[in-house]
Amino acid sequence: MDIKELTTPSFLLDLDVLEKNINDMAELCKNNNKRLWPMVKTHKSTQIARMQRDAGAEGFLVGTLDEAEKLAKEGFLNIMLAYPTAGEANVARVISLAQKAHVILSLDGLDAAKALNEAAKAAGLMLEYLIIIDSGLHRFGVLPKAAGKLAVDLSFFEHLKLAGIGTHPGHVYGASSSEEVRKVANEEINAMKQAGENLKEAGFAIDIVATGSTPTAAYAAADKNITMLRPGNYVFYDNIQIALGTVLEKSCALCVLATIISRPGEDTFIMDAGSKCFGLDKGAHGISLVKGYGVIKDHPELLITDLSEEVGKIKILGKTEIKVGDKIRVIPNHACSAANMTDYLIGHRNGNIEKTVYIDIRGGSFRKPPVE
Ligand SMILES: Cc1ncc(COP(=O)(O)O)c(C=O)c1O
Repeated sequence: MDIKELTTPSFLLDLDVLEKNINDMAELCKNNNKRLWPMVKTHKSTQIARMQRDAGAEGFLVGTLDEAEKLAKEGFLNIMLAYPTAGEANVARVISLAQKAHVILSLDGLDAAKALNEAAKAAGLMLEYLIIIDSGLHRFGVLPKAAGKLAVDLSFFEHLKLAGIGTHPGHVYGASSSEEVRKVANEEINAMKQAGENLKEAGFAIDIVATGSTPTAAYAAADKNITMLRPGNYVFYDNIQIALGTVLEKSCALCVLATIISRPGEDTFIMDAGSKCFGLDKGAHGISLVKGYGVIKDHPELLITDLSEEVGKIKILGKTEIKVGDKIRVIPNHACSAANMTDYLIGHRNGNIEKTVYIDIRGGSFRKPPVE
């Protein structure tokens, strides 16, 4: 079956491009002697995680406990939590997870650590953790110069063991040129170097110096202090990555197939896909990087200006062959948000449909609800 025969909206995944993206990142890590622990929140798919593992990923970074539990259930046994965990029910889930898999926590303070330590003690477990370093995003984490002090404070928790440091330079998504991306990468690398030195001065030796962002991955891979990369978006790439200069359009693996359903004005089309396919992202962390709500492949004369939930408004900027009833393929601004909008992606090669790729790790989609 050809993708042209599909009903719309449909989520399309170009398998050749996906495989190339996965293999290229794995090669980058191998060639630079870095451990690869990709972030699964981008795809939330055990099939894609398996492809990443087959290509060389040693473990996975997760954004949610749902992701962690589903991975463990499917036999992925190296799992790192990207964020601290707090609250009794959540801590209990971490403990239960750590009884089945090798789990590495991420911590940036004593409160969450205390509860996790007590629960680990009660279960007779030793939990490894990374200290989250703030390399410029200013979301959470500690500054590099505070890493040693936090490690000292955390060392009093007998059931927690320091394994290393981690950061996500998410402020790279505010860059407006390749030079600015490079500047953020330097900040990321310097922050990790400083944090490592600060820990050493405080008497701590660490194995893991982990960073993670798709736009800065190549720079981090080339740095000798970094030992682990944890990129997420690279499996799909998207319009935001194109805008940052990370890749060209041909590297984007995910798009939404939509149909033009109306031409309400001379310069306007309406398509049958809206924010419930694309999300409303125009950049990460509240930063607007791109024009419009996605790139319409092969049609630079069309700009998506507005999204309602189920339809999108397109401005016709120049002469176009497109008419009502035609199908268009739209690369989303943020592929991680778009993939989270669907139960499955339709995998194809050159338009020939080959297989379904299930998004089977979405929040709550497999977990038993608390009441029937
Ligand atoms: C802690 C952490 N690490 C890694 C990543 C992956 O970043 P990217 O999607 O830019 O590759 C993210 C993304 O949100 C993150 O929050």
